Amino acid sequence: MRTVSRIAVIPGDGIGPEVCAVALRVLDALGGEPFEYETFPWGSGHYLSSGRMMPAGALETLAEFDAILFGAVGSREVPDHITLWGLRLAIVQGFDQGVSLRPARLLPGVRGPLADRAPEEIDLVVVRENTEGEYSGIGGFTRRGLPGEIAVQTTVYSHDGIARTARYAFELARSRNARHLTSVTKSNASPHASVLWDEVVAEVAAGFPDVRWESLLVDAAAARLVLAPQEFDVIVASNLHGDILSDLTGALTGSLGMAPSANLSLDQMRPSMFEPVHGSAFDLVGRGVANPIGMVLSVALMLDDLGLHHSGDRVRHTVAAVCADGVLTPDVGGDSTTEQVADAIVAALEG
Ligand code: NAI
Ligand code: MG
Repeated sequence: MRTVSRIAVIPGDGIGPEVCAVALRVLDALGGEPFEYETFPWGSGHYLSSGRMMPAGALETLAEFDAILFGAVGSREVPDHITLWGLRLAIVQGFDQGVSLRPARLLPGVRGPLADRAPEEIDLVVVRENTEGEYSGIGGFTRRGLPGEIAVQTTVYSHDGIARTARYAFELARSRNARHLTSVTKSNASPHASVLWDEVVAEVAAGFPDVRWESLLVDAAAARLVLAPQEFDVIVASNLHGDILSDLTGALTGSLGMAPSANLSLDQMRPSMFEPVHGSAFDLVGRGVANPIGMVLSVALMLDDLGLHHSGDRVRHTVAAVCADGVLTPDVGGDSTTEQVADAIVAALEG
C-alpha cells in the first residue's frame, strides 16, 4: 500500500490563495498519488483579527505534516517585517530549513528580457543558505525614537551552516550535466563572514573533484548573469545574496511569476516548505491574471522531495509544453488568465 502524503497548505495573502488553488488542482490531476490536504487560514487577515500571523502552537501542528505548500505573505495593512517574521521566516527558522533551492529555466515559448537567448542558455539553480546571514534576526535598537537612534543588525555565518549549504550545492552540481558551481560572496568588503564562507566552500569543494567551481563577487555575479547567463549552472550564495540573485534569475526566465522555490529541512526530521519566489503582488490581486507557474513548479519540487520524482518530472514537462503552446499570463507576454493556464496544465496531465 502506498503511504499518503499529508500536506499543509498556507495560501497566505494577496495572490497567494489564487496560485495555491492552482497547485491543488495540479496535485489532484496527477491521479494515483494519494495526498491529504489541510488548509490553514494564517496570514495578515489572521493578524488583524488576532494580533498574530499564526496561532501559538502552529509549528507543532505543522510538524505533523510531510510538506508545507505556501502561497505568499504581505499586506498593505501590516508592516512587512511583521508579516514575514510572523509566518514565513518563523517556519523557515523553526524547522531549520537550511537551504533554499531556486531553479531558473527559460522555458520554450516564453520570451525572457534578454535579447536572443535560447532556453538552453538560461538553466541554473540558486542554492541559498536559508537560516543565517542577515536573516538571523539578531540585533537591536538604541536611543529608539530619539535623534541619533541606532540600529544594529548582526550577520551570522557559521561553519556548519555554510558547509551544509555548500555540500548540498556540490551534490546538486554533480547531478547536472554542466557540473559547474559558482560560489558568490563579497569577500573584499566583508573580511570576516565572507572569508569564512570562502574557506568552508573550498574545504567542501575538495570532496568534489568532478565539479568545476569558481568564486565570484556578488556584484560581478549580478552583471554576469545579465551578460552571460549561459556561464552559470549551480550558484551557491548566502541568505541575502541568494535572495537578491534569485529575483534576478527569476526575472531572467521571463517573470518573477515563473520562479519556484523549496525551503529544505535537510535532516528530513521536519517538513520542508515549497513556495513561489514572488510575494503577494498587490497590483494583481483579484484580477485573475497572476502567473501560477512559479507555484506549480514549486509543487514539482515538493514531489521530488516526497520521493515522487516521476510525478515531479511530469509536472515540469507539462508546464514546459503548455508554455510552448503559448498559454501564458500577461507578465510573460500572453493573454491567458490564471485559470486558463491552470486548465491547460490540468487537461494535459489528465489527457
Ligand atoms: P512581489 O513579488 O509581490 O511583486 C513584484 C512584481 O512582480 C510585481 O510587479 C508583481 O505584479 C509581479 N509578480 C509577482 N508575482 C507575480 C505572478 N505570480 N504573476 C505575475 N506577476 C507577478 O514583490 P513586492 O511587490 O516587492 O512585495 C509585495 C508584498 O509581498 C510585500 O508585502 C512583500 O513583503 C511581500 N513579499 C512576500 C514574499 C513571500 O511571501 N515569500 C516574497 C516577496 C515579497
Ligand atoms: Mg526574495
